[in-house]
Amino acid sequence: MPNVGIVIGSASDTEFAEKTSSVLDEFGISNEIVVASAHRTPQKVKDYVQSATESGTKVFIAQAGGSAGLPGCVASWTYLPVIGVPLPGGILDGLDSLLSTLQMPKGVPVATVAVGKAGAIIGAGNSGNGCPFPPGPPASPGLLPPAPPAPPPPPPCLLYTSPRPRDSA
Ligand code: RP5
Repeated sequence: MPNVGIVIGSASDTEFAEKTSSVLDEFGISNEIVVASAHRTPQKVKDYVQSATESGTKVFIAQAGGSAGLPGCVASWTYLPVIGVPLPGGILDGLDSLLSTLQMPKGVPVATVAVGKAGAIIGAGNSGNGCPFPPGPPASPGLLPPAPPAPPPPPPCLLYTSPRPRDSA
């Protein structure tokens, strides 16, 4: 099972999912793209998320536009981290998806990132397995003291692992 499950609400979102996938590919992080809609095919969302969670997927990146219930819907079926990418388009061009992805109720965590392609890339960069983006050069080379030796890389990690409050009540 791939480490990252990229879920999109419609085949019309494919260009954004492919952006995320290509960044993950660059860093050697296995991933897959699945089309499943919170509103049109909720059973498919449930079946995929539960199956991927049980099979070793580590993070989900859920991307949708409009009334973007998909990231929250994914989060409701897994303890794994869910990164929500609001997509542009339609009359409100992403403001609708930003707000509906962002403002989750307590206990159902979704880490919402920027709208559109920027978010698709940020989502990939935050999807775990250590820090996939290599550090850049210091802001002012020559003015800074020599950097200390780099610490050993951290073990692969998840963004957060606590059980949700509603599940531990
Ligand atoms: C959302 O509605 C999808 O994620 C997509 O961004 C938007 C439009 O979907 P289609 O009507 O193109 O299938 O559910």
